Amino acid sequence: MQFELTEEQISVKEAARDFTQSELLPGVIERDREMKHPTEQVRKMGEMGFLGMMVSPEYGGGGMDTISYVLAMEEISKVDSSCSVIMSVNNSLVCWGIEEYGNEEQKSKYLPRLASGEWIGSFCLSEPEAGSDATSQRTTAVDMGDHYLVNGTKNWITNGGKSSLHIVIAQTHHELGHKGINALLVETSWPGVTIGAKEDKLGIRASDTHTIMYNDVKVPKANRIGEDGFGFKFAMKVLSGGRIGIAAQALGIAAGAYELAVRYSKEREAFGKPISQHQAIAFKLADMATEIEAARLLVYRAAWLKDQGMDYTSAAAMAKLFASEVAMRHTVEAVQVHGGYGYVKEYHVERLMRDAKITQIYEGTSEIQRVVISRNILNGQLYEPLWTTEHA
Ligand code: CAA
Repeated sequence: MQFELTEEQISVKEAARDFTQSELLPGVIERDREMKHPTEQVRKMGEMGFLGMMVSPEYGGGGMDTISYVLAMEEISKVDSSCSVIMSVNNSLVCWGIEEYGNEEQKSKYLPRLASGEWIGSFCLSEPEAGSDATSQRTTAVDMGDHYLVNGTKNWITNGGKSSLHIVIAQTHHELGHKGINALLVETSWPGVTIGAKEDKLGIRASDTHTIMYNDVKVPKANRIGEDGFGFKFAMKVLSGGRIGIAAQALGIAAGAYELAVRYSKEREAFGKPISQHQAIAFKLADMATEIEAARLLVYRAAWLKDQGMDYTSAAAMAKLFASEVAMRHTVEAVQVHGGYGYVKEYHVERLMRDAKITQIYEGTSEIQRVVISRNILNGQLYEPLWTTEHA
C-alpha cells in the first residue's frame, strides 16, 4: 500500500490549484449572488482540459486516471463548486458514460465536443416524481421502429440551460419495470426539447439548474446507449462513478472552509492572542483536519478502485456519504470560527456552507448512499463472518 501521488497527479493538482486562484476566485462571490453562469470560466476549463479529463486522447480527452480527476475536483471545489458541478456532470456522468457504454459512432460524434467544452452535457434522470426512486420513470420513449418518440419532464437538471447534449433516461417497456428503461442521447437543438424554469437555489447558485420538457422528440435508435432495456443499469453504473466526483467536491468544500478557518484563526486576535491558540478553536481545527483527512482517504480509495477496474460501488457510496457529511459539519464550524465575519459574503465560508448542503442531496441523497452500503453489507460484500454459530 502506498499513499504517494505520482508526479503527473501532483502536477494536475497544482495546475487545478493555480487555475482556480487565477480564473475562478475573481468574481466568485458576484456570480453566486447574481446566479450568473460562469460561461467564460467554463470555456477556459475546457481549454485547460478539465471537462474531459478521463476521456481517451483519441476522442480529444486528457486520458487521465480517476485520481487525477478527483484531485482537480477537490482543488476547484475549494473555491467554486458551481464550476466543479458543471465539470463533474460533464466528466463523470456524460463523458464517462458515453465512453464506457456508448458505441464507436456515439463516442466519435460526441466525445470530442464534450471533452473540449464546445458542448456541455446533462444527465437527465430525475423527474418531479422520480428522484431517489429512480425506477419510477414517467418519461416515455416509445419505440417507433427507426426512432423513439420521447415525452416527459425532467427536473433538477444541472447544466440544463447551457447543455447541447442530454442523456435522457426514459421508460420504453413499462411492463418490464427497470428492465424496460432506456438511456438516449438527445441533442437539445432537436424539435420538442424545451428548457423550463431556472431554479433559484440555496447554493451552487452560479450553476444552471432547470426543468426540461420533451414533447414528441424524435430520437434515432442509433442514439440509444447499449441494448434495449439497459438504461437503468447504465444510470446506476454511471451514478456510482459520479458519486466519486461529488465526494471529491464535498471534500474540496470542506478543505476550502478548513483552509480559510486556519488562516483566519491565526490572524484574528482575542483575549491577547490569536484565536487559534485558544483551545476552543484549536480543537475545532484538529477535528476538521482529522475528518477531512479521513474523507480524503475514502475519496482517493474509491477513485483508485475504479482505476484498478475493481468494484467501487460501496466505496463510492461511503466516500460520498462521509465526505458530504464532513463538508456540512465543518463548513458550519468554519463559519463559527469566523464569528460575525463568517456570516457575511466576503469571507467565503457562508457560501461554502450553503454549497455543502447539495452534496448530501444530488447524485443520491445520504439516505440513498446508506441504502447502497447496507445492501452490500447484507449481501456479504462488506462483511467477513468471523463469528459463526460454532463460536456461540
Ligand atoms: N451497478 C450496476 N447495477 C446496479 C447498480 C449498480 N451500482 N445498482 C443497482 N443495479 C441493478 C441491480 O443489480 C438490479 O438489476 P437486476 O434486476 O438485474 O438484478 C437493478 O439495477 C435494480 O436494482 P435495485 O432493485 O437495487 O433497484 P431499486 O429500485 O431498489 O433502487 C437505488 C436502487 C440504489 C435506490 C437506486 O434507485 C438509486 O441509486 N437511486 C438514486 C438515484 C439518484 O442518484 N438520483 C440522482 C439524480 S442524478 C443527479 O443528481 C445528476 C445531477 O444533475 C447532479
